[in-house]
Amino acid sequence: MHDSRETKMKHAFVVGYPITHSRSPMIHGYWLKQHGISGGYEKLAVEPVDFAGFLSKLLRSDSGYQGGNVTIPHKESAYQLADYPDALAEELGAANTLWLENGALHATNTDGYGFIANLDQQQPGWDNTDCAVVLGAGGASRAIIQAIRNRGIAKIHVVNRTKEKAQDLATRFGPSVEGHGFDALNDVLQGAGLLINTTSLGMSKASNADSEAFPTIAWEKLAADAVVTDIVYVPLETELLRRAREAGFATVDGLGMLLHQAVPGFEKWFGVRPEVTDELRQLIIVDL
Ligand code: ATR
Repeated sequence: MHDSRETKMKHAFVVGYPITHSRSPMIHGYWLKQHGISGGYEKLAVEPVDFAGFLSKLLRSDSGYQGGNVTIPHKESAYQLADYPDALAEELGAANTLWLENGALHATNTDGYGFIANLDQQQPGWDNTDCAVVLGAGGASRAIIQAIRNRGIAKIHVVNRTKEKAQDLATRFGPSVEGHGFDALNDVLQGAGLLINTTSLGMSKASNADSEAFPTIAWEKLAADAVVTDIVYVPLETELLRRAREAGFATVDGLGMLLHQAVPGFEKWFGVRPEVTDELRQLIIVDL
């Protein structure tokens, strides 16, 4: 992987397929420079068929890598192939962060941590509610439900285009989580203090304009001090966040989740817990 001259430097990677749009190298590059660490963080494109081989090579002590991030489509395989997935990865069946320790491969999932840390930074007191509504029932939704439930949110409604997926997901979590189709959205919004979009709706300016795709939201049903957040960060202000802001609600964009989810990995690989600063945020915004 790295030649012998470089092996004394610490390296980490982000592995996916395709990987071209990952912003992780900019984030970790910023922190490496900020802390004066002579190390590297590289993007690696590895096809699914080669992923297990990639991990065994990684376990060879001369690879130069301390570990790395894992993105689509390898998150489930990373969990399955790790020697020691932690409880978070285990519960989600997916890992996004790997590190080597005593010749063994450890894995965790930092998506939920990133989501919570972003809200804590941008909107302290966001968890002062009994009820949250989560739009979407995919992998990101699952990590966020796990995180907000662990934080103590008593009731969570998952609302999804495909109702069955929302119900299946809810069943995994037990009675505190309920699954619904889009038609139930405005009923479950009544009194909710947190509305979270985990779907790709609003991902591009084109889909933003496509208001047909977005369920109509009865804003007056939300609690007056509700927080509305989106995990999408391109554009930074999605259609959902724009409408929420116009309706007078506090909003939190998805960029902070991307930045915060990177923190635990950097600490594992390079031994320093980095901070999500405004300067880092501005650096990434320029590149969006
Ligand atoms: P992720 O890992 O980002 O959560 P995913 O697992 O592919 O991605 O899940 C995508 C989620 O976005 C699903 O909840 C999906 O709804 P369906 O289960 O009905 O497919 C939702 N989604 C994607 N495109 C959507 C659209 N155009 N309208 C509504 N929901 C959409």
